[in-house]
Amino acid sequence: MTHPTATVSAALLQAEVARRRTFAIISHPDAGKTTLTEKFLLYGGAVEEAGSVRARKNARRSTSDWMAMERDRGISISSTALQFDYLGCRFNLLDTPGHQDFSEDTYRTLMAVDAAIMVLDAARGIEPQTRKLFDVCRQRRIPILTFINKLDRPGQDPLDLLDEIERTLGIQAVPMNWPIGDGPNFQGVFDLANRSVLRFERTEGGRHRAPVTVSDIEDPALTRLLGDRGHVLLREQVQLVEGAVASFDDDAFLSGDMSPVYFGSALNNFGVEPFLEALRDLAPPPGPRLTSDGAVLEPGDEQFSGFIFKIQANMDPQHRDRMAFLRVCSGRFEKDMTVYHPRLDRTVRVTRPHRLFAQERETVEEAYAGDVVGLVNPGLFIIGDTLTTGRSIRFDPIPRFEPECFATIEVESIAKSKQFHRGLEQLEEEGAVRVLYPVVGTRSAPILAACGMLQFEVVAARLESEYGVVARTTALPYVSARRVTAGLEGDGYLPRGALRAEDGHGHPIVLFSSQWEEGYAREQNPALKLEPLG
Ligand code: G4P
Repeated sequence: MTHPTATVSAALLQAEVARRRTFAIISHPDAGKTTLTEKFLLYGGAVEEAGSVRARKNARRSTSDWMAMERDRGISISSTALQFDYLGCRFNLLDTPGHQDFSEDTYRTLMAVDAAIMVLDAARGIEPQTRKLFDVCRQRRIPILTFINKLDRPGQDPLDLLDEIERTLGIQAVPMNWPIGDGPNFQGVFDLANRSVLRFERTEGGRHRAPVTVSDIEDPALTRLLGDRGHVLLREQVQLVEGAVASFDDDAFLSGDMSPVYFGSALNNFGVEPFLEALRDLAPPPGPRLTSDGAVLEPGDEQFSGFIFKIQANMDPQHRDRMAFLRVCSGRFEKDMTVYHPRLDRTVRVTRPHRLFAQERETVEEAYAGDVVGLVNPGLFIIGDTLTTGRSIRFDPIPRFEPECFATIEVESIAKSKQFHRGLEQLEEEGAVRVLYPVVGTRSAPILAACGMLQFEVVAARLESEYGVVARTTALPYVSARRVTAGLEGDGYLPRGALRAEDGHGHPIVLFSSQWEEGYAREQNPALKLEPLG
């Protein structure tokens, strides 16, 4: 017989899972990601007036050089998980860093979401960064909703934009609504499923929700607003779109083959509410996850489980601690609970779980599948760690990108060596760079290995602002790093351009200056076994 309280909690678990929507926004810088986020929070009631997120963004920007770098380059390096409630749903928005050099970090964040929003600037269409992030979503078959933003400015023809999405991204783009008017005369959207006209009114600075009037396509107000010709044109366009485009297919959307497209203006709050409704109705709640031994863990399973997808040091200069971000996958997370940490084969009590709102922290009492919890990390967690209760399980490791850029890093003042090494260790823990140590030759400075050169500047800037260490990086000509698993004992032959190194655990590694060199090393040492760093 089932225990009555167990039945209640199972039902509660299911209900909590069903109302979660965990997503990220992918976009090119300036398309309007921050503005849309802010408007979600406005509609979700998490902020009273739009403008506060930007104010926080600006306040944060002035806190360190690292943030100044973010500002100067117009990129967002740090990542935050925001939570808000709307229409009975609990939304978790995971911020993805916006620069190509941070693709690894972004990749990991996208491992933790169930859906993505692609924001496009109506004038610019698909831009390089949108494409890159889209590719990651595609690989993971993440369902994508598209928001075409800035309709209040002169932009491309909506049909051309749909065509561009299909042509360049190879995904079917299905308009769910259609813009009414454009540029300064943008009035709202026509909801194609309900055949209703949603006319919005501007509010001062877009700080408050835009009042909306619902009517039909024959609404005489449209003639007044758009003119006779404009109104006729709208009817024609709607007719054309209704006749020509494929209808929305849930399966195709969930498998990442089709994207529902919405038009709007985040700045003016036009189309934001229908878009949130779509996110609630179409984006999937957390789904089952496969464990490493092939078992399926349902999000409503009583067993708590989650994985660490991000680590960040010094998020708050006042706290100076490391935060590990956990995505809950199943069961119920509770403050102060004791969980099993399979990698360390020990239990851990999670005493200070946090939720983050911009830079502010708030203690989390409980969380369910789809939620993100920040755990203060006293060196216990690394990216990819599983935490669980009950039987021991693990999720597959989060794939790492192979480094393609290398640089030495030298501390300017020897007196700061201790802080230098601690800083490197913590930044490596975040997974943005790897730190290697040469074992032969005269060079003794550590070597940074990363996917992009910008990462080296970030490390140097962060060492300075967060650890008080001035360090200099010098680019190295290597193009790849390989772990040596066998066959290079003693004097095994390596080409002149290659370098022997090791990681922080003393595992042997070779750096190569070209692919040819790597091939040559393999030829010369038949027993040599080289593997990606992984
Ligand atoms: P991002 O996070 O994707 O980088 O973009 P963000 O929201 O910061 O927006 C980039 C710029 O585009 C901002 O202008 C923002 O106000 C503007 N913007 C966003 N949505 C809309 C929209 O619907 N219509 C119009 N016309 N503009 C929009 P900015 O001048 O760079 O910043 P700010 O001075 O407005 O803060």
